[in-house]
Amino acid sequence: MPLSVTDRLQQLSPSPTMAIDAKVKSLIREGRDVINLTAGEPDFDTPSAIRQAAVAAMEKGETRYTPAGGTQELKRAVSDRLQKDTGLTYQPEEILVSVGAKHSLYNAVMALVSPGDGVLVPVPYWVTYPEQVRLAEGIFEPVNIAAERQGELSTKDLEVAITPKSRGLILNSPSNPSGAVIESGELQAIAEFVVDHDLWVLSDEIYGRLVYEGAEQRSIASFRGMRERTIVINGVSKAYAMTGWRIGYAAGPKEVIAAMANLQSQSTSNPSSISQAAAVAALTGDQAPVDTMRLNFDQRRRYTLERINRITGLTAATPKGAFYLWVDLSPWLGKEIAGRRIENGDDLAFVLLEEAGVGVVPGSGFGVDDHFRLSYATSMKLLADAMDRMQRLLSSVE
Ligand SMILES: Cc1ncc(COP(=O)(O)O)c(C=O)c1O
Repeated sequence: MPLSVTDRLQQLSPSPTMAIDAKVKSLIREGRDVINLTAGEPDFDTPSAIRQAAVAAMEKGETRYTPAGGTQELKRAVSDRLQKDTGLTYQPEEILVSVGAKHSLYNAVMALVSPGDGVLVPVPYWVTYPEQVRLAEGIFEPVNIAAERQGELSTKDLEVAITPKSRGLILNSPSNPSGAVIESGELQAIAEFVVDHDLWVLSDEIYGRLVYEGAEQRSIASFRGMRERTIVINGVSKAYAMTGWRIGYAAGPKEVIAAMANLQSQSTSNPSSISQAAAVAALTGDQAPVDTMRLNFDQRRRYTLERINRITGLTAATPKGAFYLWVDLSPWLGKEIAGRRIENGDDLAFVLLEEAGVGVVPGSGFGVDDHFRLSYATSMKLLADAMDRMQRLLSSVE
């Protein structure tokens, strides 16, 4: 057959979070009464001033190609925002704007990972990291975090996981799915570990604006010796409720950024000109909407955490960032609910969907079988209803 798909792509899995979100949405369309806690996106609308900036850009005729790596205006806006949020100074040639942070990561992985290179990735990880590493023919090296640290990476975990092939580390703090934020002292130790082992770091800081309980969000690039070996990844999707606009960015040493920009210029070219104009407004305009959304997420976080920890056989550590709860379901393993034996998180997610009408994401896609991820980026009313449903189902089991 002339159309045969490469081995490379045959081995690639579709994003499990997107797949389950699509499944839940299709059940809802069919009229099933399902509350969707699978989505990895804010439920808020994009703030009005940002939408207005997009309209203005269209009216002004900003509807043509822009430079492939993003407009100068947006690069300057990114640079200013990074300066404010991380204290780091990047020149426009050290910044690349892409079609979402996922695309920024892809460009960075393609630029940094050669076939056979080991890449350390803490578990649980965002579903996309191992797949992108494998696409680049790198070796995915999971880093298990000792249970007592509740998802917070330490150099002790890295010491155990590192191999002679390791070349880089993908960090994600605050983490999707665990919501864990690496505190500053530990981040400093990780930075020293990275320098000692001559590794590079991809630091995915997409949830950096969404931290709670006074947690401090620092970029690992701000520690000594790290700027020249780190690519910072961020974007507007989560903080500004702009998931559909598809704007992400990377900042790092200009040689790597130039290589990433070349790849982009030969693959996608520029991200949407209109979205770029909107992103300038997001990054430079009034930041009050970000705070309002963060306060809302915080209220939902506290409520959902408290409710989950009262449901039979479920526990979640306190997340300090992002908008997810990472729920340990291990007491349910080997038990039966509604005639189905629970062997892992996939089984429990299935039962919650079928019997309680609540959609959550099984932990397997994030590298952990006995957990599931629940997004609290939805209204208090729906969260309360979802918690009632789960409690009713699980407390009725003998
Ligand atoms: C950890 C993490 N990084 C990156 C992204 C991608 O964001 P974007 O929508 O900008 O591609 C996501 C989205 O779910 C995420 O959770």
